[in-house]
Amino acid sequence: MSTVKSTNIHWHEGNLTRDERWDHLKLNGCTMWFTGLSASGKSTIASALEQVLVQRGVHAYRLDGDNVRFGLNKNLGFSAEDRAENIRRIGEVAKLFCDAGCVTLTSFISPYIADRDAAREVHEEGGLTFFEVFVDTPIEVCEERDPKGLYKKARAGEIKGFTGIDDPYEAPKKAELVIKPAEHSLEECVQQCLDFLASKGYKVGG
Ligand code: ADX
Repeated sequence: MSTVKSTNIHWHEGNLTRDERWDHLKLNGCTMWFTGLSASGKSTIASALEQVLVQRGVHAYRLDGDNVRFGLNKNLGFSAEDRAENIRRIGEVAKLFCDAGCVTLTSFISPYIADRDAAREVHEEGGLTFFEVFVDTPIEVCEERDPKGLYKKARAGEIKGFTGIDDPYEAPKKAELVIKPAEHSLEECVQQCLDFLASKGYKVGG
């Protein structure tokens, strides 16, 4: 874990506790961390889940791998170090959204167990709930789908270090939820997420 570079900085407590904020605003935050190969269905499921939750009055917000790389993480590429920094930043941002009371849905390949565990740790150290959701789609299915044509480019050697082709993906060993989009419809996958949240005591409306 990186250390704090700044000196002479002091933590400033707010006037509200988290519980007071959540009680007043009727919120209950958690982070659902979707991990899986490119084209596994992470973003599709997270987007559909976000839509259902918000339409039912649950404050949900999605942080998406590709999107975040246009802004906050525009200076990062796909080396192991850059992917680690990508996930470190998103772990911290998700923690803030979660603390604010959002059901925070992150969809990043996040290929390394150590980086995902670090994101879990920053949540748990802060008393926040982190659920790892493994979007378990076989690489053959992802490659067959290839919506952005990236697997094709990776096979042709036009993209180097592509996850699953010539870069590793470390599957979760302790995911709280495993979703298999190759075996279930999108609606079923979303329902599995809703059922999971409800089983953990989260209000999912409906
Ligand atoms: S992560 O590995 O750092 O978690 P992230 O989820 O932010 O990755 O971004 C992955 C997306 O970037 C993929 O869905 C794909 O669209 C694109 N991409 C471009 N180059 C690569 C690459 N070398 N490996 C994986 N994804 C890539």
